[in-house]
Amino acid sequence: MLKANDPCWCGSGRKFKRCHKASQERLRPGAVSAPRDVPPHIPRPDYAATGTPIRWDEPRVKSADVIDRMRRAGRAAAEILQLAGEAVDVGVTTDELDALVHQACIDRGGYPSPLNYRGFPKSLCTSVNEVICHGIPDDRPLRDGDLVNLDVTIYLDGVHGDTNATFLVGAADPESRRLVRVTRECLERGIEAVVPGRPLSDVGKAIEEHADANGFEVVRAFVGHGIGEQFHTDLQIPHYYEPRLATIAEPGMTFTIEPMISMGTGQHRLWDDGWTAVTADGSRTAQFEHTLLVTDHGAEILTVAPDREHVG
Ligand code: MF3
Ligand code: CO
Ligand code: CO
Repeated sequence: MLKANDPCWCGSGRKFKRCHKASQERLRPGAVSAPRDVPPHIPRPDYAATGTPIRWDEPRVKSADVIDRMRRAGRAAAEILQLAGEAVDVGVTTDELDALVHQACIDRGGYPSPLNYRGFPKSLCTSVNEVICHGIPDDRPLRDGDLVNLDVTIYLDGVHGDTNATFLVGAADPESRRLVRVTRECLERGIEAVVPGRPLSDVGKAIEEHADANGFEVVRAFVGHGIGEQFHTDLQIPHYYEPRLATIAEPGMTFTIEPMISMGTGQHRLWDDGWTAVTADGSRTAQFEHTLLVTDHGAEILTVAPDREHVG
């Protein structure tokens, strides 16, 4: 049994009683504001009114026209994620970030894809500390040392662009910073593993190896997905090695890679809201996501922001 002043079992070097892993207070649900309005001139996805997307057999290899529109939606999503990330600060609520992202989508003529997708109540997913994904923005002010993932998806020109990143709030502890860095590297390694003619199982293999080598666990319950005119298609990209995934990467395919990596267990629990997925042991997680296009040589990242230094 560890005593309060012993070094923590997790190897952080901090006293057990002060270690983020041992003493971190669990997150609790906050108050959720009313869904935000989208002006009538904004084109909406099919589920906007009903909450239920119409499933159809969308081609996995996209036409030049769809790819062109996906580049624009991807750029817009990346730009909005960057804006939202710049607004992250101690004391800012996730509801305020939701308002910012909601308006930024509308300003670009787009619809915030999460809004009423399968009933999701807000325009952005905000996942704090032990929340793995699908956190609902609420009135909790971000605290010094928190981790927050912002997952932005915009429906623009009839297609979706989906991207997320994890941000440090104020001064995060070294182990949280390492988690964020390793998770970003997991996404990068997953992207490098996209090679036309190779099975898509290479992606999860590369990600899982890097997480393992760093003593972290991959969350297996949530996977990358095909994307295009639909937010989520039937194509699934696990972030762990799944030898049964025989699908071969073909130029023109579009999908996301979005690894969720945990400091502790990769097992999850759902809150009563039906959305918020947290780690079973309360340990922190991080996630990064890009929407990708398979090219003749590898992958093109569609969710990149135009370099603002050269604008204006
Ligand atoms: N953007 C998430 C993803 O990466 C999906 C969010 S679904 C929502 O796939 F309903 F929560 F918005
Ligand atoms: Co996604
Ligand atoms: Co996303």
